[in-house]
Amino acid sequence: MNIVLLGPPGAGKGTQAKRIEKALGLVQLSTGDMLRAAVKAGTPVGLQAKAVMESGGLVSDEIVVGIIADRIQEADARKGFILDGFPRTQAQADGLAAMLAGIGQPLDAVVLFNVDPELLVKRISGRRSCEDCGRVFNVHTAPPGTPPPCGQCNDQPRLVQRPDDNEATVSKRIAVYEEQTRPLVDYYRARGLLREIDADADFAAVTARVEQALTAR
Ligand code: AP5
Repeated sequence: MNIVLLGPPGAGKGTQAKRIEKALGLVQLSTGDMLRAAVKAGTPVGLQAKAVMESGGLVSDEIVVGIIADRIQEADARKGFILDGFPRTQAQADGLAAMLAGIGQPLDAVVLFNVDPELLVKRISGRRSCEDCGRVFNVHTAPPGTPPPCGQCNDQPRLVQRPDDNEATVSKRIAVYEEQTRPLVDYYRARGLLREIDADADFAAVTARVEQALTAR
């Protein structure tokens, strides 16, 4: 099964991708995580992406389509994947359709996360991640100590805030989503792939809604 999680920044796509990947035997492919890793490693892609990401804009279609085209060829992705944060533009959606046709794989569903805009800002401003294990926390809803325990950082997270999680950049990211990514809702609805969920609920309730959306016909 190959799926896309679609929704605005802070909607919970990354959180839910991690919660369902094991249960469904899929691998999470997050363009945001891949780009942040490239920035940290100082690769040529990272050097190009850094300023754009910090401003809240979108990295070029050419770069992200190239990253995903390479990544879905890897062995673990052959079992099926969860795209988190990709596609974000019409050109990326067309690029995804072309690459899936090229490897003879379908796109099975696109799950749209609907969340109240005020809650998005609260979730994003409260988000922290551990510099050592990468696990995502939230000072309001999932503080350190929240199960499951972390074997990697031994539940002693060194919390950092993403450089693009400040108030000014968040507003820009939400505006960019509305302008460039929201049109994909109709794009996927027209193809019969869209499943909408109310993602304005606790973690477990949202997971259940995603799983139900994926099994609904
Ligand atoms: P990316 O990393 O993809 O960021 P995003 O789409 O803005 O999404 P977020 O990571 O902010 O939110 P999320 O929905 O994953 O929420 P999360 O689960 O963490 O992209 C970053 C940047 O990279 C982009 O701005 C762009 O520059 C570039 N980029 C990436 N992909 C690109 C592409 N395809 N094309 C071009 N550029 C690209 O949850 C948020 C917080 O809320 C967490 O703290 C979490 O604990 C908490 N939370 C989640 N769910 C719940 C819940 N149900 N109840 C309570 N708290 C919750």
